[in-house]
Amino acid sequence: MKYVIGNWKMNGNMAEKDSLLKSLKNVRTDNKVVICLPFTLLCGNTFGITIGAQDISEHTNGAYTGDISGAMLIESDVKYVLVGHSERRFYHHETNDIVKAKATAAIQNKIIPIICVGETADEKNAGRTMSVVKKMVLESVPKSGNYIIAYEPRWAIGKGVTPSANEITAVHETIFKTLRGIKKENTPVIYGGSVDAGNAGTIANLPHVDGLLIGRASLKSDTLLPIIKTIKE
Ligand code: PGA
Repeated sequence: MKYVIGNWKMNGNMAEKDSLLKSLKNVRTDNKVVICLPFTLLCGNTFGITIGAQDISEHTNGAYTGDISGAMLIESDVKYVLVGHSERRFYHHETNDIVKAKATAAIQNKIIPIICVGETADEKNAGRTMSVVKKMVLESVPKSGNYIIAYEPRWAIGKGVTPSANEITAVHETIFKTLRGIKKENTPVIYGGSVDAGNAGTIANLPHVDGLLIGRASLKSDTLLPIIKTIKE
């Protein structure tokens, strides 16, 4: 079983959500398909498809204007939540500490956090990918509970470029060893950043790659369904 997780970011409307979820309903796959939707699309019919959110407050309730708590997400039947996506780390200045607190809040509400890590282009060019990713993992994961790690090199997101197969394998191996060091070697580690139907099959079958996180190509069934079909289970 591989994870195929869509990240709609700030895109889509109710009709488009209904259309995609309905089309997924008829796909026969043993892969675990999850669509992470904007908050306003988390209500309504899910057509039996697992849905996720894209952020969660680290707080339980109270005076946090604009934030959404774990208890609120649970009411919308959310099973997964992205935390620390690079766009949140960049635009909203989320640090590893904040990401860890959010992941902890998710676990307390029985929501599985998908903790995103990844190096910038500058960090890659300076040869610092492994040390940066390792530090992000160690500082962002909660003390206990189950979670997923998503490796998303920032320079690959939305750019139509991906690391080579060897690069992805090397980083995923580093993440695996880092997790083994804290006795979390069973944690799924998925890859994200410019995944499409052309590269999904190859990337998903690399060593230590347990699935994919897909942005743009998850918005429409004609780009998402071929990805799901191309991944061996
Ligand atoms: P992309 O986005 O597939 O459009 O590159 C991936 C992500 O940011 O999760």
